[in-house]
Amino acid sequence: MSGRVRIGVLASGAGSNLQALIDASNSPDYPAQIAAVISNRRDAGALERARAAGIPAVWISHRDKERAAVDRALVGALQEHGCAWVALAGFMRILSPVFLDAFPHRVLNIHPALLPAFPGMHAAKQALDAGVCITGATVHLVDAGMDTGPIVAQGGVPVRAGDTADTLQQRIRSIEHRLYPRVLQWAAEGRIHVQAGQLTVDVPDGQRWIWNDDG
Ligand code: GRF
Repeated sequence: MSGRVRIGVLASGAGSNLQALIDASNSPDYPAQIAAVISNRRDAGALERARAAGIPAVWISHRDKERAAVDRALVGALQEHGCAWVALAGFMRILSPVFLDAFPHRVLNIHPALLPAFPGMHAAKQALDAGVCITGATVHLVDAGMDTGPIVAQGGVPVRAGDTADTLQQRIRSIEHRLYPRVLQWAAEGRIHVQAGQLTVDVPDGQRWIWNDDG
């Protein structure tokens, strides 16, 4: 399919969410393509996955550099690959206005909790420690805060008796892999807008959340 919307993915880790996006984009009907994968870690599994899929894999170190300089380098690489949207998938850096101003309302992130609950690190452990019965994953637009931008879609999972942070995280991961490709599709179809600070997601009622009670 030509004319697909080009997406840049930023990832620091294993890249299982990146893989879900790559797999979705392998379908000929999918409106987005992953045009580049960028990591701040040279050994990130995400870069390996990109190479295996024939996608440009770019390492941009953040060591000994100012944040603005790193962000300018990230923007440059994304622009070089013609990216219209950016999807953060386990990218462990806060992005400065230098970055966000280059892609206004066009940066998505996935977080392993039902925001605004449990932002930051170790979200599955935070959920267990808090004793919640339901947690999940959130895809949101990125703003200057940590996990604070407008919520686009959420997926819920139960917390089961005997869960550890690891088992709960696995359950969350599997719903993330269903949720993120769906939201990226909406982005590519032009269904996600912010006007006067207000998010609109132009999809039928009921599509902005999913639930997983198996596994
Ligand atoms: C995911 O849990 C995501 O929600 C969080 O970082 C993790 C990345 O995992 N932001 P992976 O690298 O996609 O496997």
